[in-house]
Amino acid sequence: MPLPICYLNGDYLPLAEARVSPLDRAFLFGDAVYEVLPVYASRPFRVREHLDRLNRSLASIRMSAPLSHADWAQLCQELIARNSARDAYLYLQVTRGAEFGRNHAWPEDLKPTLFAYVTALEPVSPSFLEQGVSAVTAADTRWARRDIKSTALLANILLKKLSADAGAFETIMLENGELTEGSSTTVHVVKGGVIHTPPNGHHILPGTTRDVVTELAARLSVRCESGRVAEATLRAADEIWLAFATRGVLPVTTLDGAAVGGGKPGPIFKRMSAAFADYTRELAGTPAL
Ligand SMILES: Cc1ncc(COP(=O)(O)O)c(C=O)c1O
Repeated sequence: MPLPICYLNGDYLPLAEARVSPLDRAFLFGDAVYEVLPVYASRPFRVREHLDRLNRSLASIRMSAPLSHADWAQLCQELIARNSARDAYLYLQVTRGAEFGRNHAWPEDLKPTLFAYVTALEPVSPSFLEQGVSAVTAADTRWARRDIKSTALLANILLKKLSADAGAFETIMLENGELTEGSSTTVHVVKGGVIHTPPNGHHILPGTTRDVVTELAARLSVRCESGRVAEATLRAADEIWLAFATRGVLPVTTLDGAAVGGGKPGPIFKRMSAAFADYTRELAGTPAL
């Protein structure tokens, strides 16, 4: 559930009272970018990495950063404090702003709309970690700039709904015989003791959790390779994982109705999941930025 106090254009106010113009370009065109970052024990996680990605998304849509990293970090702390948030996630959104009218090519003098709120995060269901989740596959129907974390998520939500309709957790997307990513997750595939994940580029969102997995794999002395993953490799995987900011890493144990590996979370997943939990505990009490 969202917590009651949000931030909108410089003010902290009840989320239920926040108002934006219907002429905001986010409403008319999906002309906006966003970030979602987890908060563990009231401390926002990987703030710098999320804000770096936000600035890359903004630059890609020809917007400048409306706030410095320090100001965003302060805003995050303020929202956490005002809502007494502990384990939660923060949503940050920057839209190109509102104009009086509707023009595809935007005027240059717009004032961006800044919006942020925080949602309490329930602990991961033990069954997700002990039994794993299921996923289905579908063709990747998105546009060519998936590296931009845009609020224009129509393809992603339609794809996610496919899995929900099938009683599954996620839709894993394929393109030209290769894995891209999940509708809202990065996908890792373990085969023969090596973790594989598609390379960053325009065709996927560069996941912040993906980077954590890469760092923790080095700590665990497990090889982690960024490279193309063929559909056949996905289907023959020993383990499949979903990585995303709000949940860390989850094991996929059923893909399109077939068991993945032994049909149970695998040994490398268990090590990675434990390393992830250790890492978040290590960060407690350290500066967020
Ligand atoms: C399409 C897509 N890929 C990957 C991810 C994972 O990114 P992160 O680990 O930064 O949450 C997300 C997260 O929302 C996503 O929407």
